[in-house]
This record gives sequence, structure tokens and C-alpha cells, in this order.
Amino acid sequence: MTVDNKVFKDSVSRRAFLSTAAMGASSLAFGLKTPAIAQSVPLKVGVMLPFSGTFAKLGQFIERGFQLYVDEKSGALGGRRIEFVRLDDESKPETATDNINRLVGRDKVDVVLGTVHSGVAMAMVKVARDTGVPLIIPNAGADEATGPLCASNIFRTSFSNWQVSQPMGKVMFDEGYRNVVTITWRYAAGTQMTKGFKEGFEKAGGKIVEDLTLPFPEVEFQALITRIAQLKPDAVFAFFAGGGAVKFVTDYAAAGLKGKIPLYGTGFLTDGTLPAQGAAAEGIRTTLHYADDLDTPSNRRFLQNFKTKTGEDGDIYAVQGYDSAALLEAGLVAAGGDIQARDKVFGAMAMAQIDSPRGPLSFSVAHNPVQNIYLREVRNGENVLVSTAGSAVADPARGCKMG
Ligand code: PHB
Repeated sequence: MTVDNKVFKDSVSRRAFLSTAAMGASSLAFGLKTPAIAQSVPLKVGVMLPFSGTFAKLGQFIERGFQLYVDEKSGALGGRRIEFVRLDDESKPETATDNINRLVGRDKVDVVLGTVHSGVAMAMVKVARDTGVPLIIPNAGADEATGPLCASNIFRTSFSNWQVSQPMGKVMFDEGYRNVVTITWRYAAGTQMTKGFKEGFEKAGGKIVEDLTLPFPEVEFQALITRIAQLKPDAVFAFFAGGGAVKFVTDYAAAGLKGKIPLYGTGFLTDGTLPAQGAAAEGIRTTLHYADDLDTPSNRRFLQNFKTKTGEDGDIYAVQGYDSAALLEAGLVAAGGDIQARDKVFGAMAMAQIDSPRGPLSFSVAHNPVQNIYLREVRNGENVLVSTAGSAVADPARGCKMG
């Protein structure tokens, strides 16, 4: 469902407009083709994200991060004024194909930004492969998107499900845990993150006691938490995110397991959720490609600007949105703003090196981020850096044949 059609005219400063016009004029003067035409029309970005349901806040923060970057560039990327067409995908795979087809076919967007949920992203990847529309995935970790379904027009600025979970296997083994229970939602992201963790943990010598699951997006955790108490593992590995993560972490503490059976997971368990989780989240250790207190100029500036603009603390989702705009800009700059110059756009995006708030960000041949994976711990309501669990971690991109 298209909920809104926003043209951010207000955010385009006179200066940006004038510089766009000036670039057009100078390219004419030097006899260059297309940029003047390309730059006179806005670039339409189809934003397909969850704006309702358990992942609503994730979608909102991705969009705000993207918007922040565009605003910092006075409303234009690579000389093209940015216009948005928004669509709430509700994290529903069953309507995902129709939704992206509507953006591409009816709304004629130039590029699609989306989404959060791996199942929805799989449908989007298929349409992107069929239509050739440039797709930037700002969260969903579905391994296939930069594996067997990789394509020249598909880029991801977030992570693969394997990438954020596999390093936790060694971390937990090294911390002394041998018997671990996993718990997650029964859908692509949960299954793949559990598998990635298991790969790392078993390789180190650990043993999975039981895999517990419930359907997405259910949050009736009581029976499963009771089962954990019965099994008495050394520790628990969990993937939940958004509203589900808030409920799981608070239920786990309320059941009395906090402090008895240590809770670990991928960083989504505690990212963007800490104000709502409060004391229940203190001490939880997770792996992710971000930590709140990364002490770099890029992260400090990002967090400050995000706070000034939105009044809220930035999180990994906002970072992923922000970097998506930076990646798109790299492509547009190389092509003089002409998104139809596919080879130039995708070539530059593939080679982009971004000074991200998360640390150095580059891309694998499969167009998945190559990035550090950090071990973090919740201390006083922040995901604080403990150590770097893996430097410049690249997904193995199993099955990717880039055409
Ligand atoms: C996913 O479905 O891939 C997913 C959703 C939410 C997250 C992380 C991954 O926070």
C-alpha cells in the first residue's frame, strides 16, 4: 500500500538548485551529453520499508538516516534532487511482489530502497533481477541476496545473516560456554542467523542443546522461556528485533533467567530497543557491525546530527539508511547524475569506500558489505564496544555468480 507521496521540495536549498543548474550549464559548455537532462528531473527513490508492525521503528530509522544524508547534501545526490515515493510493506512477504511491482511499474521509481524483513527482501530481489531496477537493501540479511541471487543491480548496505551471527560462535566458546540453546522466529533471518551461529560455535567445539522457534511475528514467549529454564543450558543465543526484541528481553528478565542463564545474540536484540528494555537488557552481549560508542569522527558527527534532526539517538538502522544514500551518491556522481548509465553507476557503487559511522565500509564482489563485526555489551543503556570480533569480515557469498 502506498501511504504517502512526498517530494522533499523544502529540503532543497537554493544553493543546491543553483549548483545543479550550474553543473548542467558547464557540461553543455564542454559538449558532454545527458547530465543536463538527467539533472533537470528529480531522481525518484522508492522507499519500501515497514512503517507498521514489529519492525516499524526499524523502517522509520532507516528512512530518517537516508533523509539525514540527503539533507546534509542540500537535498541532492550527484546533482539530482531526490524525491521519495513511500510504501509500507508491513513486513509481509505475501504482498511484497505486488508492492515492489507497483513502485517500479506504476510509480516509475529510478531506484528502490528496501527492506527490513528477509522474506520480503527475497521477493524484491526477484523483481529487481527481472526488471533491472537498482535495488539497495538497507537491512534484510537474506543470505541469498548476495549469494545465489546476487546481481549487478542489487546492493546491500547492511549485512548478511551469516555475517553477523557466525562470529558469535567463537566469542561464546571462548567465554567458556559449551551447551547453548538458540531461540528465534521461524523465518529466513531467524533460521539463517541460527545456522551461522551454529557454524561458528560447533567449529569451535560447542554443542547446540535445542533450537527453539515460534512463527514471525509472534511474541508469546512464555512456553519457550519455560523450556529454557528446564534445559538449563550454559547460555542462550537469540535473534529477535524491534518490538519482538523488546518483549523477549523483558520477558526473559521477568521470568528470572537474567543473571542465571546469560543471554547473547546478534545485535538486533538490543539495537534501537534499549530505552524500552531498560534494566532487563543490562549486560547482554551481542555481535553487530556497529557499537554506539565507536570513537571516530564519522560516528560522532552522525550521532550528533541525527540527534539534532530527530531528537532521538541514532542506531544501526539509521546508520544503514545513511550509508545507503552515500552509496547511491557514489554511483550518481560517477555517472553525472544519469542513473540510466548503469555500468558507470553500478561500477562506482561496487568500488565505493565509505567512511561509515560503523567504520570502514566497502563491498564484496557480491555487493555485500565488507566490515568489522564488533562484540558489544549493554552498559547503562548503551551498546558499548567490548572488542572487535572480526575485522573486515566478508560474507563467503556462496553460490554468487555475478553476471
Ligand atoms: C531480517 O529479516 O533479515 C532482519 C530483520 C530485522 C533485523 C535484522 C534482520 O533487525
